[in-house]
Amino acid sequence: MIRTVSTKPYSDQKPGTSGLRKKVPVFQQPNYVENFVQSIFDSLEGYQGKTLVLGGDGRYYNREAIQIIIRMAAANGFGKLMVGQGGILSTPATSNMIRKYKAFGGIILSASHNAGGPHEDFGIKYNSENGGPAPEKITDRIFEISKKISQYKIADVGPVDLDKLGTTKAGDMTVEVFDPVKDYAELMESLFDFEAISAMIKGGFRIQFDAMHAVTGPYAKEILERRLGAPDGTARNYHPLEDFGGHHPDPNLVHAKALYDDVMSPSGPDFGAASDGDGDRNMVVGKGIFITPSDSLAIIAANATLAKGYKKGIAGVARSMPTSGAADRVAEKLGVGFYETPTGWKFFGNLLDAGKVTLCGEESFGTGSNHVREKDGLWAVLFWLNIIAARGESARQIVEKHWAEYGRNYYSRHDYEEVETDRANALVAELRGKLASLPGTSVRGMKVAAADDFAYHDPVDGSVSEHQGIRVMFEGGSRVVFRLSGTGTSGATLRVYVERYEPDKARHDLDTQEALADLIAAADDIAGIKSHTGRDKPSVIT
Ligand code: G1P
Ligand code: ZN
Repeated sequence: MIRTVSTKPYSDQKPGTSGLRKKVPVFQQPNYVENFVQSIFDSLEGYQGKTLVLGGDGRYYNREAIQIIIRMAAANGFGKLMVGQGGILSTPATSNMIRKYKAFGGIILSASHNAGGPHEDFGIKYNSENGGPAPEKITDRIFEISKKISQYKIADVGPVDLDKLGTTKAGDMTVEVFDPVKDYAELMESLFDFEAISAMIKGGFRIQFDAMHAVTGPYAKEILERRLGAPDGTARNYHPLEDFGGHHPDPNLVHAKALYDDVMSPSGPDFGAASDGDGDRNMVVGKGIFITPSDSLAIIAANATLAKGYKKGIAGVARSMPTSGAADRVAEKLGVGFYETPTGWKFFGNLLDAGKVTLCGEESFGTGSNHVREKDGLWAVLFWLNIIAARGESARQIVEKHWAEYGRNYYSRHDYEEVETDRANALVAELRGKLASLPGTSVRGMKVAAADDFAYHDPVDGSVSEHQGIRVMFEGGSRVVFRLSGTGTSGATLRVYVERYEPDKARHDLDTQEALADLIAAADDIAGIKSHTGRDKPSVIT
């Protein structure tokens, strides 16, 4: 039985950098999920009888939302719905399933690295048939529809047993509950040299992977322990929990500090890694060295041919604008394409689909390639293990040699979280107002070479995305970038990205914050961060 239910629109269902993210109680309002899901379906054409992939990172409200979406997909005419067992499916694995099984699209339930629980965050994101996040023209349409929606369709069918593998029916629609790990693990095995990595592990190389009680636990258990033979316990915090054990499943130096400390201790493992809520982010740490995501992209690009899936070489590299320029110099040396895109993975999709780039990365712990259309946490970890195994050198040696060859980009991001929205907007407005007058002036003894509000011209579809972050570039390759987050759920988050290029090998062992001290001070001089936000220091430094 299909019912058409009358509903009233909500005004706040605008998808952000990665879908719609709100606190759980917002999603629990009457018809809130239903309205948004119907708006997604109404923004699409031609899905009748086609397949929809569905899954989430296991956070609070995942299972409830899945049941609603199953009933709505059935009522709206999808032919088949494929859902990960237990409602679990990482973001990169969702992307793979959509591509591999030629689905029409997929819905991912996650708020990524944000905390989970009854009063924390939840999110819904739609991915298109290429496996990547819906492009802006679709997310804009979803928002427009959500503001006018008056009814949605839902089937009166009982809940699907999400824990039992196999196929059932929800009305006329087939529902397949599948193993969320198997296809993904096979994909990884096709890209990397598992024999070389296992031999290295057998030879005593010790890895510690922190799944942060989020979605990658089952993936890491299967791949690192079962397939690569790492000892039991290599994957820690591997049970996905609805509240991630009360922590932020955010793999960075703040939230994965315990892992970092373990790797740094003399008796600790040789290599540590962590992933986030939905499995698309990664943090990699070698003994004695934290590898910044920007450097990670550059080093993977420089060593890509060591992995079997990339041995023919890469077509090009793309990075988000705030990501450091380390990868640019690798692309230049390799003589391959290089692209600078706005923040958010969706901007990489066209470049990947058009074959212009093979590797992509963001400073926010996101790295990926054309194997899927999302960033991929475990993929990055396996790439590093493959490079280490192939080169027979430690992560630290590999990084230091890379700097010696290409120069080092000191890099840090300072976040001011939960700033009052008006104050954050005022800061940005003032900054925009003075952009034109900055070039040629000196700040803390550094000369401003250029300043702009980044606009991206997509070379594939010609679309233009404006106001993507304010860049102030200094002579010599240093810069500061300011932008407001598009993923926060309360107030505004100001992100300040600071970067200094240092070609001289003799100055490659400075403390990052000290190396950037002048630029950090300059950022405040330019934007009046302290006076606008009322904060005397950032909430998070990564
Ligand atoms: C943040 C990151 C961005 C990433 C996004 C989704 O977005 O900065 O690189 O793509 O999360 O994981 P922001 O909050 O800055 O808009
Ligand atoms: Zn994520």
